[in-house]
Amino acid sequence: MSSVVALPGDGIGPEVTAQATRVLTAVSRQAGLEIGIEEALIGGIALDRAGSPLPEETLERCTAADAILLGAVGGDRWSNAEVALRPEQGLLGLRKALGLYANLRPVTVEAALVDASPLRAERLEGVDVLVVRELTGGIYFGTRGRTATEAFDTCEYSASEIRRIARLAGELAGKRRGRVTSVDKANVLDTSRLWRETVSDLYASEFPDIELDHIYVDAAAMYLLSRPATFDVILTDNMFGDILSDEASMLAGSLGLLPSASLSDGGPGLYEPIHGSAPDIAGKGIANPCGAILSVAMLLRHSLNLDMAARAVETAVSETLQAGLRTPDLAHGEQEYRAVGTEAFGDAVIDRLDAAID
Ligand code: IPM
Ligand code: MG
Repeated sequence: MSSVVALPGDGIGPEVTAQATRVLTAVSRQAGLEIGIEEALIGGIALDRAGSPLPEETLERCTAADAILLGAVGGDRWSNAEVALRPEQGLLGLRKALGLYANLRPVTVEAALVDASPLRAERLEGVDVLVVRELTGGIYFGTRGRTATEAFDTCEYSASEIRRIARLAGELAGKRRGRVTSVDKANVLDTSRLWRETVSDLYASEFPDIELDHIYVDAAAMYLLSRPATFDVILTDNMFGDILSDEASMLAGSLGLLPSASLSDGGPGLYEPIHGSAPDIAGKGIANPCGAILSVAMLLRHSLNLDMAARAVETAVSETLQAGLRTPDLAHGEQEYRAVGTEAFGDAVIDRLDAAID
């Protein structure tokens, strides 16, 4: 029996996680797997109910699980709290505590959604990017401080932190199109100069067949729009990866579409949509559950080694989009579509999963 901890969190987190866990239950029933799903608190709701954004009990249950499925954390209600008492600290603390240094954010374009992207169709042809974001270092976790009138955050990286994420990117690129673009700001930052040197040395010795290039983050932001199809694997640090992956979601058509996997060496993986808690639409039943549902596919693939089941989920989502169902974030463009809410989209995905088995 595999165990999954669901951490719905805040805002639209519970709404999209509900659909994701329904899909996980449906697919495991079909595949004859026993998967136990239990819920725990994280983020703002954990602060309200247990006084901490990452209660001890949540961390213990996550540590003991095979995988974790997270919704989103954060909201205006907690935005003025001191750092340790912010919802985001729950997620950052969990990433750090579980050693989840590798964040994979795949970006592809569904044929049915080409018109939902702000980019012209011809620029989207062949887009298939994997952002590999370092997740437990850099400016997110460096020394920080503030007084009433001054503040600082420090970006820190060690060669070994850079090497392990670069190695994973190289291995993944070897199973894809064999290209890695390492993104940094080596014309300004010392951490980026160490990053560039370390990645170059590693690839020269361990990945001679991978085509490696280095570009600055400002140029990367531009090329993601001007020639997105030329990217294969983008390897980058914590903050650049955060920013570039939101930008890349516009290739797909909506931030609500993209899933992610956060992996460690051997421990449980954490799977979450890349979007945030979207307080403006929370509670309305209109959030796009695709990112959360596709995160279930990544969970099946990376933590439970069930590639067939993962593909079944991806196919069901893709077919649902092809059938014209769209949540309001995708409700623009030329093609005909049927506007649906979060739950109706989930129903349609589950219907397709069921149909695929019959
Ligand atoms: C993400 C989010 C988080 C991050 C926030 C919620 C802390 O934006 O997963 O991309 O910055 O990593
Ligand atoms: Mg982000």
